[in-house]
Amino acid sequence: MSTTEAASTEDLIGRTDVNDLDAILEITNTDVDEAIHAVRDNADAIFTWDYEKGARPALNKLYEKAKVSQWNGETDLDWSIEVDEEALAVSAIAGGPQMDLSDTVLKHWGEKEWMAFSMESENWTLSQFMHGEQGALVCTAKIVETVPWIDAKYYASTQVMDEARHVEVFAKYLDTKRSGHYPINAHLKMLLDDIVSDPQWDMTYLGMQIMVEGLALAAFGFMHQLTEEPLLKQLLRYVMSDEARHVAFGVLSLQEYYTELSQPEIRERQEFAYEAAVRMRDRFLQQEVWDRMGVPVKEAIKVVNMAPEQQVFQMMLFSKIVPNCKKLGLLDAGDGWLRQKFGELGVIQFEDWVDTGSEYESFSLEATATTA
Ligand SMILES: [Fe+2]
Ligand SMILES: [Fe+2]
Repeated sequence: MSTTEAASTEDLIGRTDVNDLDAILEITNTDVDEAIHAVRDNADAIFTWDYEKGARPALNKLYEKAKVSQWNGETDLDWSIEVDEEALAVSAIAGGPQMDLSDTVLKHWGEKEWMAFSMESENWTLSQFMHGEQGALVCTAKIVETVPWIDAKYYASTQVMDEARHVEVFAKYLDTKRSGHYPINAHLKMLLDDIVSDPQWDMTYLGMQIMVEGLALAAFGFMHQLTEEPLLKQLLRYVMSDEARHVAFGVLSLQEYYTELSQPEIRERQEFAYEAAVRMRDRFLQQEVWDRMGVPVKEAIKVVNMAPEQQVFQMMLFSKIVPNCKKLGLLDAGDGWLRQKFGELGVIQFEDWVDTGSEYESFSLEATATTA
């Protein structure tokens, strides 16, 4: 990742065919019982003696907005709400995927199996959200240290608090309202390790604020729309109001910084964005859930990935990332390498969707206080 020479797909993601399912499933998390995971962060802590507040007005505005948008996970969410996992699973599956499974490894599955799968899948998804939130907590603490601009250090410090709150509420929700969690998915872990270990401050932003949080914003939005569970709906609504600001922080900071970079440096950022996109797509296969359900993982994934709703969901996850990459000039820089790669992933059609540089205001809690 630190090379400035053009890398091959294999250099970037460890396989030549981006859709090679065997290679994807070979990567599993072997540290599931470890309580601590250490990553060297390779960066200098930067002081600045330029204290002029508001030298970057857009970041200053975001910082002021963050100060008055803090909420308290313990008192603002209604933890008295009882969650009936089984009832939720029943309404979520309504008989399983709407497709013919008679020739597949899932042909013997009845309502009992689909219900168990639905519960596991939800626990898995929420667990990965929680681990990703901790990644954001660590990354924004790193940004406070490494970014050279005072307005960005100020803003990032508010995001550290936001992320602590997000980890806290997802962990509490899983512990008190659901039936258990999952260790971090190996693909997500590899991505977080890459982001944290890169010595360049802007790479932390690109990996976390643009890619991981861009995907999170889309995924939270999806779940917020679909879930019928009022506490989860409320929790996601609160978290999203912060996340939209975080993505905006990335867009606004990198927009300025990228104007100073050379072509090879931009190419390195394009490659990093692609690598991150693939890692995130790989993680959504939920391989650990199928494993826990005791069915052949690869066969089950092949079946479920055929379902149209699953394909739509996986693509929708990129609905924030692609327009934000476009706004940063990453899609078309150089020879348009990233445009081509996003085309191969089947997500380029989102390029003209609204970007998050200004959209964050519409996510604020006041903006939807009457409709939420
Ligand atoms: Fe977060
Ligand atoms: Fe965030």
